[in-house]
Amino acid sequence: MDGHGERMTTAQRYRAFAAREARGHSPRYEALALAVGADKRVLALLDELPEQKRQPNLLFAAAQYLGAPVGVPADFLDWVARSWSPLSTTMMQRRTQTNEPARCATLLPVLTRLPQPLALLEVGASAGLCLYPDAFRYRYGDDPHFLGPASSPVRLTCAVSGHVPIPTAVPTVTWRAGLDVNPLRVDDDDDVRWLDALIWPEQRQRRERLQAAVQIARADPPHLVKGNLLTDLPALAAQAPGDATLVVFHSAVLSYVSPDTRSAFMDVVRRLRGHWISNEGVGVLPEVGAGIATDSAGPARFLLALDGEAVAFTGPHGQEIEWLALCGSAG
Ligand SMILES: C[S@@+](CC[C@H](N)C(=O)[O-])C[C@H]1O[C@@H](n2cnc3c(N)ncnc32)[C@H](O)[C@@H]1O
Repeated sequence: MDGHGERMTTAQRYRAFAAREARGHSPRYEALALAVGADKRVLALLDELPEQKRQPNLLFAAAQYLGAPVGVPADFLDWVARSWSPLSTTMMQRRTQTNEPARCATLLPVLTRLPQPLALLEVGASAGLCLYPDAFRYRYGDDPHFLGPASSPVRLTCAVSGHVPIPTAVPTVTWRAGLDVNPLRVDDDDDVRWLDALIWPEQRQRRERLQAAVQIARADPPHLVKGNLLTDLPALAAQAPGDATLVVFHSAVLSYVSPDTRSAFMDVVRRLRGHWISNEGVGVLPEVGAGIATDSAGPARFLLALDGEAVAFTGPHGQEIEWLALCGSAG
């Protein structure tokens, strides 16, 4: 989300992106965003698009998708001006819907403590790569051992702090389905190229992980339904088998909808049977974070909760989990 809700000019959005999001994570995007924020020609082009389509992540992903040079800022600006027609078409057609399978490492300590087997339903699933927590390998903290299927090409390492109930095995999943306004298909090469383009240039490991997770998902593609998280969730949940624990979960999704929609979603999900796991930016679900000292969360962290009770702070890309002292049990 840009600008925490306040109205910013496009130049301000790009400068804020450089300072708040790219700095320390992507020197290239930091430099490109500063250059865009200072270039009247490119800013005028961006301002031709609807406001929600001017976001830096969308511009940079579309540029990578089309093979833009994302190194020298001056070359990038020239490329944008020259390639505006295909670039703006891609920005209008595509959305930022990064799919990060490593988030499964932070979901696993909660998933494994629920009654098995599980019927997983992911809301805002993108291509559904987080629907395979049973197919990945995991290593927590200093423990040198991995858990999970030995042959898995996806290996996730997660730093731990606090009394994280570290899993000893992966969960048993007998049903998996996803809901998304715009599901992406793991068996569509263009969709996979788009997912790859959404990853920032320096993040080679994430790119390799994406390809490995796609390989797993292609062997058994997920059941993904196109629909809205408010109106279409109950019908999909009703398809889950009755002999498994239904787990409705979501990560990095609710920041895309308004606070009113988030509240309405909580009402919908609470009326379903089974359990609900949320993994969203700190502050996205104020009710879930109530009573938690979120100041200590640090920047850009997520809050993991089971059935509306916060259990941990998590790294937004699944890289770490800090169990909250107040919550001794998630089961
Ligand atoms: C950043 S992606 C996260 C994907 C996945 N949950 C993960 O953690 O890797 C957010 C996804 O939420 C979907 N989304 C946004 N608003 C939605 C809505 N109202 N109903 C259903 N899906 C939505 C987007 O299309 C996108 O695929």
